[in-house]
Amino acid sequence: MSQAFDVVVIGAGPGGYVAAIRAAQLGFSTACVDDWSNAAGGPAPGGTCTNVGCIPSKALLQSSEHFEHAGHSFAEHGIKVEGISLDLERMVLRKDKVVKQNNDGILFLFKKNKVTFLHGRASFASASAGQYTIDVAGPGGQTLTARHVIIATGSTARALPLAAFDETRVLSNDGALRIAGVPKRLGVIGAGVIGLEMGSVWRRLGAEVTMLEALPTFLAAVDEQIAKEAFKLLTRQGLKISLGVVIKKVDVGDEVTVHYTDSSGADQSASFDRLIVSIGRMPNTEGLKAETVGLAIDERGFITVDGECRTNLANVFAIGDVVRGPMLAHKAEEEGVAVAERIAGQHPHVDFNTVPWVIYTSPEIAWVGQSEQALKASGRPYRAGSFPFMANGRARALGDTAGFVKILADAATDEILGVHMIGPMVSELISEGVVAMEFRASSEDLARICHAHPSLSEATKEAALGVDGRTLNF
Ligand code: FAD
Ligand code: NAI
Repeated sequence: MSQAFDVVVIGAGPGGYVAAIRAAQLGFSTACVDDWSNAAGGPAPGGTCTNVGCIPSKALLQSSEHFEHAGHSFAEHGIKVEGISLDLERMVLRKDKVVKQNNDGILFLFKKNKVTFLHGRASFASASAGQYTIDVAGPGGQTLTARHVIIATGSTARALPLAAFDETRVLSNDGALRIAGVPKRLGVIGAGVIGLEMGSVWRRLGAEVTMLEALPTFLAAVDEQIAKEAFKLLTRQGLKISLGVVIKKVDVGDEVTVHYTDSSGADQSASFDRLIVSIGRMPNTEGLKAETVGLAIDERGFITVDGECRTNLANVFAIGDVVRGPMLAHKAEEEGVAVAERIAGQHPHVDFNTVPWVIYTSPEIAWVGQSEQALKASGRPYRAGSFPFMANGRARALGDTAGFVKILADAATDEILGVHMIGPMVSELISEGVVAMEFRASSEDLARICHAHPSLSEATKEAALGVDGRTLNF
């Protein structure tokens, strides 16, 4: 006995669950299958993002920031706090509660939008006469048929070939979010987004954090000026970051010893109580039985898609981390919506150039569009304007003045080509840059918009004025 659907979505991460909701909104009978289980074995839709990614990491970043402020910043505001201590168990329980709220929220949204949710692992069984047959193994086990399939199976953490994840000593993002006690010595291999966010959490809670990064350049994809400022501020906070290392060997016992060569080529070793390995993520197609239907997968494991997320199979689409492009929740969501609308005959478009990036360290780092080094490399003439938070009244009132906003605009047309920020709440401020770029605004357009005073967003306006060499408050 099988159930027939117009659309079956495989995976309920931010790509899959949003695609399923949009497909249902457009009038398609839609099922979404996801295999993530919570500690009790029940369904936990939301994928990596909700369960072991965006949401829990931001919950711990917030809690650890409160802890750091209570210990170090409140006194400056005239607030005396004595006898501060850490209840890590409670902090982790709060994080788990936030995750559960999100899992439950997605189940509610499925119900509200009449999406049939199945908890289990989906695999292709066959394809014939424009129909795909999909087996679902697990508690919701059954067979489905679909006219359209959207694959949103996400990604998994890449392990070092030398040291498999045991989630006790050698931790992926999963283990890094649930260390039972604050490690005295925490090693992090890979000073990318996860390394910096999770390294920040555990440093704030008291760990001595050492980061070993293969590339000779810190945050190589980020605008150089921003990356330089971030390196200065983060190392000043106590993150020890070594660049240009080559990991040679990892010994795992009661402690983890990493043998590596440093940037000068000299042999080094360092021992840690725990080691987070955050060296990137790999597309996940395990268990999908792609070969049964001849689904094309490239040499790096990504499902091959065109610019519209179409695979080599008719009416089969793939979105999110399992396909090319940035591994970001909001990119997955945009692709999910676009694919559902494409199935309905609409003509949506996802512009990767206006996908914002945020690193939730303190200060936060955010950007959209092209970096200054990319513009230089492409030879496109540009003008730059920047403004420091030190000269922003709201930042001074907050006591959070590190960082700056930088805007890059075409030298001839003044169209904004990139917005780069490091500073307080820039995860929120970057949206103004995204909107401006989506509307192909000029820096003058931004500079002429009235911004509330005092607000952090005035730094964006002032940076835009700076493109024309006429900041007012600096
Ligand atoms: P996933 O979220 O990976 O979801 C895929 C789902 O499919 C999973 O539930 C998986 O179990 C399920 N699945 C796989 N195969 C099958 C199958 N055969 N049958 C049934 N189900 C299956 N991005 C941001 O934009 N902002 C952030 O702040 C951010 N923070 C992050 C922090 C960490 C620690 C990590 C690891 C990632 C973070 N990301 C962040 C990245 C973000 O989590 C991913 O880009 C996003 O989750 C990708 O969504 P997706 O829908 O493609 O896949
Ligand atoms: P990453 O690509 O951000 O960083 C990995 C780092 O590890 C790189 O700097 C790389 O040079 C380094 N590296 C690779 N191999 C190494 C080795 N053998 N030894 C030492 N260093 C090595 O990947 P990360 O941090 O694992 O995160 C994966 C992805 O998840 C991110 O790229 C991002 O797409 C997403 N993410 C997004 C977040 C956000 O939006 N705030 C937060 C966390 C993750």
